[in-house]
This record gives sequence, structure tokens and C-alpha cells, in this order.
Amino acid sequence: MGSNPTSQTPWTLYDMSGKEREKAMKVVELKNGEMVSIRETVKEDASRIIDYLCMVAGETDFLTFGPGEFLPTLDQEVVAIEEMLGASKKTMTVAVVNNKIIGCMSFSGGTRPRVQHTGELGISILRDYWGLGVGTAMMEYLIDWGKDSKVIRKFNLRVRDDNTRAITLYKKLGFIEEGITTREFYINGKFFDFVRMGLCID
Ligand SMILES: CC(C)(COP(=O)(O)OP(=O)(O)OC[C@H]1O[C@@H](n2cnc3c(N)ncnc32)[C@H](O)[C@@H]1OP(=O)(O)O)[C@@H](O)C(=O)NCCC(=O)NCCS
Repeated sequence: MGSNPTSQTPWTLYDMSGKEREKAMKVVELKNGEMVSIRETVKEDASRIIDYLCMVAGETDFLTFGPGEFLPTLDQEVVAIEEMLGASKKTMTVAVVNNKIIGCMSFSGGTRPRVQHTGELGISILRDYWGLGVGTAMMEYLIDWGKDSKVIRKFNLRVRDDNTRAITLYKKLGFIEEGITTREFYINGKFFDFVRMGLCID
């Protein structure tokens, strides 16, 4: 885990019950001096996550959804969180500053034995918090979770090939480029290619 002395290591998340996982939290000081808490999502976050999704959708073209395109109902979001909390190879993580959700990340491992060691992650952060270290802290949290699981052996992700900030972050953490998928996005009449990246964690 990072060298910041304020970090609290959330070890053994994988084997924890839902209640225990709710309590696991990492606290990190950002480059602007604010403190961010990174923790597993809980049901009580549902409405704030919906607010977050509405906001982040309008801030970047690097996500799979734009403004108004991904609006789960409160019930749907609660169910999604409950499913995550009940599943050992899935996790949904939030970054919280002053009680406001400013970042969200999810990972789903495979369900069958041959593919349960791997899965794809997604991450987003509100624009006001880009470049302050939130992405690094959240990714490190996920990598620690994966290592602790003893089951997850590799993280995969796909990123738009012009998303320099994200690619820099992933490479900094050891991800390597594994290939290109063409025409993954189509936005305002333009296709965008994606880089596939992966990190082995054994
Ligand atoms: C991509 C994203 C998750 C990165 O998170 P972040 O909190 O901004 O990243 P960090 O502040 O931890 O910075 C990580 C690294 O990126 C690099 N970086 C920072 N700003 C950069 C910039 N403007 N251009 C290129 N690289 C940059 C730095 O190397 C930095 O590490 P360092 O501070 O140790 O030098 C976030 O910016 C985001 O949510 N963007 C919009 C949605 C998105 O693109 N999601 C990913 C889809 S695959």
C-alpha cells in the first residue's frame, strides 16, 4: 500500500462478510491537502451514486455513457450494490471527500472456474479531482483487494487510446498494453479505438 502514513490497510477484504467489508477503509491525503476516504460501497450510498453518475457523465467523453444515458433507479442501484457486497469476486469502491462521492470504481471477476481469476475494471473521478492522486489511491486499493483475494490473478481494462491521463496512471501501476480494439466508441460521428491493458498480480 502507498507510503502515506494516513493510509489504513484494508487487508483481508476478500474473506470478510458484507458488514466487515463495509467498514474497511483507506484514508489518503490528496495533493490539495483534502482527505479522501476509499471504501467499499454500501447500500446507503445508492442515491449519492446516482447523483455522481449524472454529474460524471457530463464531464468526460472517456466513459461508456454520456449525459442522461445511464440513470439507474434508486431500487436498481440498491440491488446492484447488494449484489456486489454478496459476491466475493466483485467489488464496487467509492472515493469520498467531505461526505460527497467524488470517484467510483468497479471490478467483476469471472463466475466460472476457468475465468474466475480475471475480470475487467472501470474507474471514474469527478473533474474537480483529476490529477490529485485519487485515481492512484483507488487503483492501489483495488490491486491490494485482488492480491488479498488469492483468487484474482489478473486485472484487465480497456481505455480510449487518446486518454493520456488514464493510460499514464495504468502504466505507472504496472499495467501493460496488450492490444488494440478498433471502433470501440462512436461519438458525434467519430470512431475511437481502445487500448486493452492488463496487470498480472502474482
Ligand atoms: C483517468 C482518471 C481515473 C485518473 O485519475 P486521477 O485521479 O486524475 O489520477 P492521479 O491524480 O492519481 O494521476 C495518476 C497519474 O497520471 C499522470 N497524470 C496526471 N495528470 C496528467 C495529465 N494531465 N496528463 C497526463 N498524465 C497525467 C501522472 O503521472 C499521475 O501520477 P503522479 O501524480 O504520481 O505523477 C481520472 O482522471 C478520470 O476519472 N478521468 C475521466 C474518466 C476516465 O477517463 N476514466 C477511465 C476510463 S478507462
